[in-house]
Amino acid sequence: MKKRLFHSFTLLLAFFLTACSNNDNESLETSQQSQEDTSQQNQEYAEIGSGAHLVKFPDDLKEGIVFATYDRGDIHENIYVNSREAIEAVQNGEELPNGTVITLEGFRDGELEHYLVMEKRTGWGSQYSPEERTGEWEFQAFTPDEEVMEDGIGGPAIGRCYTCHANQERDQFMNSMEQMKEFDLGEISQSKNESIETAIEDIPADHWNVSEISAGLIDSKNKKESNLIEGQEKVDIIQDILLKMYLQQFKS
Ligand code: HEC
Repeated sequence: MKKRLFHSFTLLLAFFLTACSNNDNESLETSQQSQEDTSQQNQEYAEIGSGAHLVKFPDDLKEGIVFATYDRGDIHENIYVNSREAIEAVQNGEELPNGTVITLEGFRDGELEHYLVMEKRTGWGSQYSPEERTGEWEFQAFTPDEEVMEDGIGGPAIGRCYTCHANQERDQFMNSMEQMKEFDLGEISQSKNESIETAIEDIPADHWNVSEISAGLIDSKNKKESNLIEGQEKVDIIQDILLKMYLQQFKS
């Protein structure tokens, strides 16, 4: 009798043990499974900033519109947008259009330090997780030589641009949205100034005479001739006056 009881006890114990170890296997399997699930999810999303290389230096930068400037201690920043349409969209309460490029030209102590560029393209950013992505914007930092910045705020640190600008979701990921909304498009854009400057430079200055007249010389006819200005100085003065006359017609 005692022997049988012992037998059934060991049988029961063995049964329990196998049951337990089965359980262990099962829980191990499920934990392995869930680990695979999360790693699969991570693989689906690209590391934030991995699309930065898509942003090229905007060669047409100086044809853009400076819609905002910042001055903070020894820092000066010009903020450019590449199209008038972008400003119009914002002022009409619409989304910034596909192809919008915004560039921050940063100076320290009057010296160009970097260019920070953000560019928006339909479909960009879709590889990032919804929590991390900054809409359809990609960011890139460039040196004063217009080369991709490999260190400092660029290179491996580029993800910070996205993280910081993600806080501005309500303003289409921009910080200077207010300035863009308030920008007066009636002002002549920089591009217009630049093209007129080159046009004025092409006007020949040979047949112009420029002479210096100071208050004391006005009534002295003889001295007028002897104060003729020649060479590059003469050309510069003529171009400057023509540009001022051109700009004046927009002001009045
Ligand atoms: C610490 C937060 C922060 C980080 C990091 C950051 N920015 Fe900005 N960014 C700003 C702020 C704030 C402004 C507004 C200008 C200012 O205050 O100097 C700005 C302005 C800009 C602008 C002009 C458009 C706008 O949003 O007003 C561009 C373009 C820009 N940043 C690109 C970049 C790039 C590229 C990087 C990474 C190399 C970067 N930013 C990193 C906060 C940040």
